[in-house]
Amino acid sequence: MGIKFDESKRIFKLDAKDTSYLFHVTDSNHLLHMYYGKYVEDTDLYYLLRLGDEKFVPAVHDAMGPHSFDCAPLEYSTSGVADFREPCLQVMDKKGMSACEIQYVSHKIYDGKPKITGLPATFANKDSDCQTLEINCIDKHLNLEVVLIYTVFNELDVITRSVRLKNASDDTIHIRRVLSTCIDFDTIDMDMITLQGTWARERHVQRGKLRHGKQSVDSIRGASSHSLNPFVALVSPDATEDVGEAYGFSLIYSGSFLALAEGTQYEKTRFVMGLNPYDFDWKLDPGAEFEAPEVVMVYSDEGIGKMSRTFHDLYRNHLIRGKYKDVRRPILINNWEATYFNFDTDKLIDIARESADLGIEMLVMDDGWFGKRDDDTTGLGDWVVNENKIKGGLKNLVEEVNKLGLKFGIWFEPEMISPDSDLYRAHPDWCIHVDGRKRTTARSQLVLDMSRQDVRDHVYGQMKEILSSANIEYVKWDMNRQITEMGNEILPADQQRELWHRYMLGVYDMLEKLTTDFPHILLETCAGGGGRFDAGMLYYSPQIWTSDDSDAIERLKIQHGTSLVYPVSTMGAHVSDSPNHIVGRKTPFKTRGHVAMVGTFGYELDVTKLSEDDKNDIREQIIEFNKYNELVRTGDYYRIGDPFANSRFDSWMFVAKDKSEALVEYIQVLKVPSLFEHRIRLKGLDPKARYKDEETGNIYGGDTLMNAGILIPKLHGDFQSHIIHLMKV
Ligand code: GLA
Repeated sequence: MGIKFDESKRIFKLDAKDTSYLFHVTDSNHLLHMYYGKYVEDTDLYYLLRLGDEKFVPAVHDAMGPHSFDCAPLEYSTSGVADFREPCLQVMDKKGMSACEIQYVSHKIYDGKPKITGLPATFANKDSDCQTLEINCIDKHLNLEVVLIYTVFNELDVITRSVRLKNASDDTIHIRRVLSTCIDFDTIDMDMITLQGTWARERHVQRGKLRHGKQSVDSIRGASSHSLNPFVALVSPDATEDVGEAYGFSLIYSGSFLALAEGTQYEKTRFVMGLNPYDFDWKLDPGAEFEAPEVVMVYSDEGIGKMSRTFHDLYRNHLIRGKYKDVRRPILINNWEATYFNFDTDKLIDIARESADLGIEMLVMDDGWFGKRDDDTTGLGDWVVNENKIKGGLKNLVEEVNKLGLKFGIWFEPEMISPDSDLYRAHPDWCIHVDGRKRTTARSQLVLDMSRQDVRDHVYGQMKEILSSANIEYVKWDMNRQITEMGNEILPADQQRELWHRYMLGVYDMLEKLTTDFPHILLETCAGGGGRFDAGMLYYSPQIWTSDDSDAIERLKIQHGTSLVYPVSTMGAHVSDSPNHIVGRKTPFKTRGHVAMVGTFGYELDVTKLSEDDKNDIREQIIEFNKYNELVRTGDYYRIGDPFANSRFDSWMFVAKDKSEALVEYIQVLKVPSLFEHRIRLKGLDPKARYKDEETGNIYGGDTLMNAGILIPKLHGDFQSHIIHLMKV
């Protein structure tokens, strides 16, 4: 494993666990991509670089003969120099010209993985986990240094890429676009899988055949967004959960992004991913550097399932940080759907008392405890306890909750400001806005300019005061709208287009400060549900609120899609009321528990109003959660059902890393009459081991369970659930 450079052939070979990635430095010092896929032993894949018989394209000459940038598999595409496909890098020089061409200068290979200044990124736990290659390139005309950074993980099929630019000239250069990865695949015969949705319906899976031309997912909203996730998988047409090739790309960034696949005239595909070039321009003064975010690339030769498990292992071990990285999270109860804005100290203590009796471990006080906020039209920005509601103050409330045996958590929406707030009255210029234009509100709020240090200092100061004033052990960091009228009155005209990225750098700066100053706090991020569920956020918060839709049946699709990339241990999932507040669907308590158990697990309903039956269900669910959480959090996750393809059922399972134990969950979505017991085939078990079904006592061979399958007992009614716990004997 690791990275090699064959000096005589001028070939770089990057080997991750079972993956190889090769590219060549031509005599003209251009970088040509040769291969990305399953591990191969050979280094000399030069024969793969063919010349087409194209005649009418601009040509460059090198050892390969006359060939065109437009046909060559480029390692990193630049604009304006005879490659008409999607460029990764576009700049503008002092004369307004934008041609750019990079050539290899030198490289270095070292153990470990560098950080990216101010940005989240995956990391090595020890230097021997990874090797890194930095390729120093230059545009000689501009004197722009372009460093292509690759890291391979030795134990995972993961290669990461990012890019660093340095202006080595005496003149200002404007970066018009800088994407982080570029792969020229030798085929167009692939399917593209993306995650689409909206509020309360996030990350639904969509798959389609690649076509000629450009197909993309993106966000220009300033947040990664509900509607499209910064993730793409390019898979072989035959790929299923278990077979076929899958290339997964995940961007470690939470703002506006672009991921684009372009089917070209020569039946090939270019894929690029990174910061969205839309409305982007970064002024790079002489000597200045710019670092682009990281793209994680996962290769799987065993279908989409293995791709997901690789992402899960990477993100669980090399992205998530902090106290809660590897431990069971407290079972929480959040008062949002129980009370909305209508609560006070007494109500919260009633909920806490009942919760303590049921075995719940933490009370989270959601929106409405601060300023004059009794609905969603006021108060954001005024992070001062409203003592009309929180009678006796916050410290007293937290102490009372702690006395009942529960931890205490609190909600903030730090990036926002209500026009009806003391903060806005004092600083109407602190929000993102274009002077003289209407300030569009969404949910009656505006966005604070997080690029400004003074704004961040003020908001953080208030948060710090609150968090230091009582024994607070959890924070929910929400973000309930996207950015419009992007502008401020601070940056000069030629830097206004930097704001999208500067905003994200500001948010990350504040998140870093929060997690450094309060390392004991469990942070859960959120954005109107799952509007910023991305790998960038996972660097700061080990869990993210998956969706405001906690209906168990809606969650099947949402959690299935989310699990394509993100570990289930990161998915905030709660048991909430039935009928569900958003879709009005009635589901059994047991099913709601089984679906929430896949995620971080908690409750979001008024426990003071539950029947004894429901309370007993909660007690049983908590026993089950405690019993299985280690396996769910740390095991390998296998999708068995597909809620997008089948309305009868969904099913998934967890297998311990040592294959000693497995948990199968089965949800009967719609009851179909006159059928036999449903036989499903399990996955990931040790074929040679024997497993005992804990409930029935039946013993099966691992190979039997995976090939012949297991029977799910007949369940009566829609929305029923069943679990099977298997132990190796
Ligand atoms: C968002 C969140 C909810 C809740 C509300 C409070 O919608 O996703 O969970 O916190 O805000 O206003």
